[in-house]
Amino acid sequence: MPFQRPSVPKLLHPRDITLQQLVTQTAHAFRMGPQIHPRRAAYEFYPTPPEATRALLSAESFDGDIWEPACGEGHISKVLTEAGYSVVSTDLIGYGYGTPNRDFLAERKPLAKHIVTNPPYGRGLADAFVSHALKLTRETGGTVAMLMNLAGLCHPIRHDFYIQNPPAVIYGLDECTCWPYGNPRRTTTSIAKQRYCWIVWKHEHTGPTEFRWLSTRRFK
Ligand SMILES: C[S@@+](CC[C@H](N)C(=O)[O-])C[C@H]1O[C@@H](n2cnc3c(N)ncnc32)[C@H](O)[C@@H]1O
Repeated sequence: MPFQRPSVPKLLHPRDITLQQLVTQTAHAFRMGPQIHPRRAAYEFYPTPPEATRALLSAESFDGDIWEPACGEGHISKVLTEAGYSVVSTDLIGYGYGTPNRDFLAERKPLAKHIVTNPPYGRGLADAFVSHALKLTRETGGTVAMLMNLAGLCHPIRHDFYIQNPPAVIYGLDECTCWPYGNPRRTTTSIAKQRYCWIVWKHEHTGPTEFRWLSTRRFK
């Protein structure tokens, strides 16, 4: 069944609203059309190079099944599966992998204990994914691991959120680029310049956030 787009309210500029409002409005972002900006990939499809997930698994393990709620072509799911995890893979769009037509932001029940993904960015979508993943895993006690843009960590709009929801650990990655549609030839200057990190939240975590460096090189 094709994805149905309901009508949406006008989007406010992120500068003018609180994070909570941003989360609410961005739940509607793709219901307006496949591209949040003409230079962005449709549905924010920027697949994760496998070495980024292998690097994560060299440092983190998960005691149960994992949900990849924006699985795309399965770049993360396949690495998790190869490592022996039971993985539930869903996505808003059908790429021939996992279950399509599942809007993560509309999910009301966790489909697995842990959540690992590289979420869609832009218009606060990544923020909405993080907030929703933390909400859903509160029920399961699971870990949330998100591949995020490193610069986004220090944006004023997220300051209070990170203080109130401190990650257990952040892994800064040395070499990782998520090309549009997985194709380096379709890149833009800003994508080529992006730096990425895995941000990991654990509900039992207390104390300060640990920052670690992780190299993808030996996992290529
Ligand atoms: C950055 S890509 C990453 C794909 C995959 N996680 C990976 O790492 O290779 C973001 C993905 O989010 C999906 N997506 C966008 N909005 C979504 C939503 N509301 N619910 C579920 N998936 C969504 C896109 O279709 C796309 O596959």
